[in-house]
Amino acid sequence: MSKEKELFIREIKEGTVIDHIPAGRALVVLKILNITGREGYKISVLMNTDSEKLGKKDLVKIENRYLTSGEVNKIALIAPNATINIIKNYEVVEKYKVQLPDKITNVVKCSNPNCITNTNEPVKPKFKVVNKNPVELRCLYCNKITDENDIIKQFLGE
Ligand code: CTP
Ligand code: ZN
Repeated sequence: MSKEKELFIREIKEGTVIDHIPAGRALVVLKILNITGREGYKISVLMNTDSEKLGKKDLVKIENRYLTSGEVNKIALIAPNATINIIKNYEVVEKYKVQLPDKITNVVKCSNPNCITNTNEPVKPKFKVVNKNPVELRCLYCNKITDENDIIKQFLGE
């Protein structure tokens, strides 16, 4: 994206820029990061902005906050093309694309209410990633597909 189009959000000095989020999902990213606004971080959220690659995209900038690998793995589930930029002293010192592993354990619940992983049995939810974009997970126990919309609802706590 050209600098001109983005000029109305300022560059940050230190922190993380999560770019190329599918349009409309910035708030899911904030929810994954447990950010409510009350923590005091300076945050810029850009939603439904124009992107050459995606048509439309969302973007989140968080000053003085860095992501854990667990957080990045969750973001990959709802934003498979997201780019994480680490900013130090106004420079992008690290840039990487999120990556989905082939197996997902424990992060997502199975969408089948009758699945053994949703009972009181001590069985952790485990999935094979059968499609990366949009994300589709196949439960290793009941074979049911848990899709992007199921995952978004879970992350939003709906
Ligand atoms: N950025 C920022 N503050 C800085 C440096 C960069 O907020 N001090 C933001 C930019 O506005 C951009 C993102 O971090 O949204 C990545 O910066 P950069 O790599 O310079 O931009 P692009 O080349 O457009 O990124 P890409 O190729 O990943 O689309
Ligand atoms: Zn299941």
